[in-house]
Amino acid sequence: MKGVILAGGLGTRLYPLTHVTNKHLLPVYNKPMIFYPIETLVKAGIDQVLIVTSGPHVGHFLGILKNGKEFGLKHLEYAYQEKPDGGIADALSLAESFADNDSLAVILGDNTTDADISDSVKSFKEGALIFIKEVRDPKRFGVAVFNKNDPQKIIAIEEKPKEPKSKFAVTGLYFYDNEVFKIIKNLKPSQRGELEISDVNNEYIRKGKLRWAKLDGYWSDAGTFKSLYSASEYWARRDR
Ligand code: G1P
Repeated sequence: MKGVILAGGLGTRLYPLTHVTNKHLLPVYNKPMIFYPIETLVKAGIDQVLIVTSGPHVGHFLGILKNGKEFGLKHLEYAYQEKPDGGIADALSLAESFADNDSLAVILGDNTTDADISDSVKSFKEGALIFIKEVRDPKRFGVAVFNKNDPQKIIAIEEKPKEPKSKFAVTGLYFYDNEVFKIIKNLKPSQRGELEISDVNNEYIRKGKLRWAKLDGYWSDAGTFKSLYSASEYWARRDR
């Protein structure tokens, strides 16, 4: 399994900070945000990683991450997404040649977690695996909808619903087989004009090929001022 970190977008929710650099290079406590997802992948035994990025500060990544050796990576590759607001699935489409038929652990560059996903990496074979986490404010996320008669079954993912049907957010950590690229090619942009990762996951649900697991450990995104602050606070507290 190879790793893909999605680190594009304009980070408009973090203006004016993101006028200075790419969102994923802003500090979360004592290191640039993107170090966390890199370390999550490396800890899980993944040593080939592609970073997909976009926007005005793309050059900053090379200076900080270089060839990835310092993180224990054997191979670090970069891809440039032409439309920074094309959406997460559009960014992921750029990973096709890097994947080279291998399966992928995809992680959003603004997600930090201390969960150990090595066992899931080892056992993943096909389809899709998403990781969910109970949150207080599900409206901000993709939200899992469970079958009323069979609560083990997710029947849909709703992206930022006004009235969430559960408290389980879909975290920005997804495993996919190579089928994902075919699915993305058939996606239509959502109302906000993006190719949505939730639509990819809904297609796997339709095919009966989506599995889920609860993410065991701390998890937060860091794409808003509040979550950036609380993620920093968490990692600072751990360091005490
Ligand atoms: C994205 C996804 C959403 C997911 C979230 C996790 O939202 O669209 O489904 O729950 O990441 O961080 P965004 O943060 O890009 O608005």
